[in-house]
Amino acid sequence: MSNSTITLPGLVDLHVHLRDPGQTHKEDFLSGTSAALAGGFTDIFDMPNNQEPIVSVQALDNKVASAKRQIVCDVGFHFGSLGDNLDQFDKVKDRVSGLKLYLNVTTGNYLLSPESLTKIFMAWDSPKPILVHAEADVIETVLKVTAETGQKTHICHVSCRAELEPIIRAKEAGLPVTCGVTPHHLFLREADEQQLGNYGRMKPALKPQADLDYLWDNLDRVDVIESDHAPHTHAEKDEGAFGVPGLETTLPLLLQAEREGRLSRNDIIAKCADNPRRILGLTPDSTTFIEVDPVEFKITNDNLQTKCGWTPFAGRTGYGRVKTVTLRGKVVYRDGKIMAQPGSGRVI
Ligand code: NCD
Ligand code: ZN
Ligand code: ZN
Repeated sequence: MSNSTITLPGLVDLHVHLRDPGQTHKEDFLSGTSAALAGGFTDIFDMPNNQEPIVSVQALDNKVASAKRQIVCDVGFHFGSLGDNLDQFDKVKDRVSGLKLYLNVTTGNYLLSPESLTKIFMAWDSPKPILVHAEADVIETVLKVTAETGQKTHICHVSCRAELEPIIRAKEAGLPVTCGVTPHHLFLREADEQQLGNYGRMKPALKPQADLDYLWDNLDRVDVIESDHAPHTHAEKDEGAFGVPGLETTLPLLLQAEREGRLSRNDIIAKCADNPRRILGLTPDSTTFIEVDPVEFKITNDNLQTKCGWTPFAGRTGYGRVKTVTLRGKVVYRDGKIMAQPGSGRVI
C-alpha cells in the first residue's frame, strides 16, 4: 500500500434539502441521511422550504417526528419565515439551528420582500445565525440590515464576484457575516450548461469562468463549503426544477482538488467541519470521524444513496472513497453499507 487511509472529522453540511415531509418522492430522511453518510457527513442541517414550509411550531413538530423515525446521521433544522410568523420565533429558537430567509426566487417560492428584513432580523432573539439566499441584486440590502441589527448572518451559496466582494468588505468592516460556497459553483461553470442541460439548472445559476476564478482566488475568505444538496427527479429536472444533489460528491471533488494543489487538507477540514461547527455553535466530538480510502475514481450516476439517482458531476474524477463513518463511537457506515438503524441518528 503506497497511500494510507485518510482520517477526517465527521463532516458537517449546514445546507441541505431532504424534502421530508411533503416531497419524499425526491428524497426522504432515510435516503438523504444515507447519502450524507456515504459522502462522509455526520451532521447535516435541513432547510425549511418543504412543500409546506417550516414556518410554524406545528410544521416543525411534524418534520422532527418524521426525522426521528428515519435518520441515520445527526440532523438539525433551520426555521423559515415569510414575515408573518414572528410570534413563533421564541417558541422554536431552542429547537432549531438557524433561521433561513429567501430573497430571490428559488424552489418553493418562499420569497420575502427586502423591506420586511429589518423587522424579521430584530425579532430573531438568538445567537444562532440567520442564513440567507441573497444573490448579487440584494446582497447590499442584507449586509445593511446585518450592520443595523448586529445579527449573525450567513450568506448561502455565494456564486460570483458580485456577491463575494461585498461580503469581503463587510467582513473587513467587522460585521458578523459568514459565507458558504457550493461544490457546483466551484467546479461547474456557465459553459457546462450546454452539456448538462436542465441538470445544470440551479439557483444561483452557474457563472462564467472569471467568477469561478474569483471564488478560488478568494477561498480563504469563504467560511464553509455547503453542498446545497437539492434533489429533484429526472422528470422534474426536465420541467426545469432548480437544484442539484451534492452530499455524495462534495468530499471526492475536494480531495481531487487538493491533489491538484487547488486547496489544502486543512482548508477542507476547516470549511467542511470546523467552521460550520463553529457557526452553528456545535462542539467537536473526537469519537465522530470518517476513514477514506485514497483511491481515484470516476463519479457516475450509479450506486448513489440519494433517491434522485443522478449527479451533475457524472464523468468527473473524484478522489477518496468513504470506507467507514463512526458516529459517537459507533460504526454507522462501512464499505457502501448503512450499518445504523433508521432513527438512530440524533436530532440536533
Ligand atoms: C434549492 C431547492 O431545490 O430547494 N434549489 C437550488 O437551486 N439551490 C433551493 C435553494 O437553495 O435556493
Ligand atoms: Zn438558495
Ligand atoms: Zn438550498
